[in-house]
Amino acid sequence: MNQISINEFIEGIPKAELHLHIEGTFEPELMFEIAHRNNISINYSSVDDLKKAYNFNNLQEFLDIYYAGASVLITEQDFYDLTWAYLTKVHEQNIVHTEIFFDPQTHTDRGVSFETVIHGIHNALEVGKEKLGISSHLIMCFLRHLDEESAFETLNQALPYKKWITAVGLDSSELGNPPSKFERVFSKAIDEGFITVAHAGEEGPADYIWEAINLLKVSRIDHGNRSLDDDQLIKFLSDKQIPLTICPLSNLELKVVDDLINHPLLKLMDAGLMVTINSDDPAYFGGYMNENYCRIASALNLSKEQIKELAKNSFQSSFLSDDDKEIMIRKIEQYYQKNNN
Ligand code: ADE
Ligand code: ZN
Repeated sequence: MNQISINEFIEGIPKAELHLHIEGTFEPELMFEIAHRNNISINYSSVDDLKKAYNFNNLQEFLDIYYAGASVLITEQDFYDLTWAYLTKVHEQNIVHTEIFFDPQTHTDRGVSFETVIHGIHNALEVGKEKLGISSHLIMCFLRHLDEESAFETLNQALPYKKWITAVGLDSSELGNPPSKFERVFSKAIDEGFITVAHAGEEGPADYIWEAINLLKVSRIDHGNRSLDDDQLIKFLSDKQIPLTICPLSNLELKVVDDLINHPLLKLMDAGLMVTINSDDPAYFGGYMNENYCRIASALNLSKEQIKELAKNSFQSSFLSDDDKEIMIRKIEQYYQKNNN
């Protein structure tokens, strides 16, 4: 039997994506196209000129550009086109399930209605399911640099759309905006039946991860790199198998790590944590899921068996039903048996 390379193995294995901001999939070409049709001028003369600005020293420098990019999204069609472009990419990369963040406040604060945003995204996801066979869940994020009142307002806007939104999350500028700031909003979200997740320990300390667990009752930690600073936390995350959604290329581009060879992924796996690979904001960080898998596999010399574990973890950590998880995990085992030579 012909041996396939690790990259081919990665490309072919079925995967789930659990940490993906739909606004972070906004490719410059589509951004220019949508800006043009909405008669909005972009501060950059060309796609290449814009791409040159994608050079970040930290999370905030990225967020400033990311929010500026998202500001050309106005109509339901814009949100549909953005989501559809992502789904076609997902389809090429053997991602069969995706759990997508969206940031309503980025849009409602500019006068775009919540309805416009959710209808555009949801309709594309429905077509993605029907035409591409991609299942999905939506996770509504609160922007943590904004206040509690704005988060409550956003939660209230989401209530009529409960059947389309599985979970709530927390993103944006982490330092100085601890999870505790949103304890009451998350408590109401839980009462309303939402699952909870939160970005924690990307730039912020391990204490923020404890807060996300203890105060926001999260089912997953988004990023969580800094958990390695706290032995007790590592033991807790391992004992409880609370998943971490790790984003290697994001960590590299936002200088959370200086080099992928120093990325903590293997340390976290070796400590027995439930870790997954994700793309975060692929249009800004130089790669979608397969690029994230391939680059980290090369930097850390991961084996096919380790890739198989990561792909299995992606389904195990998802919000799919136990039956659906089981089906996918079995498929991955079969794929491994066929291709691990
Ligand atoms: N919003 C989009 N990407 C993010 C990230 N990596 N961290 C926090 N907020 C974000
Ligand atoms: Zn993120």
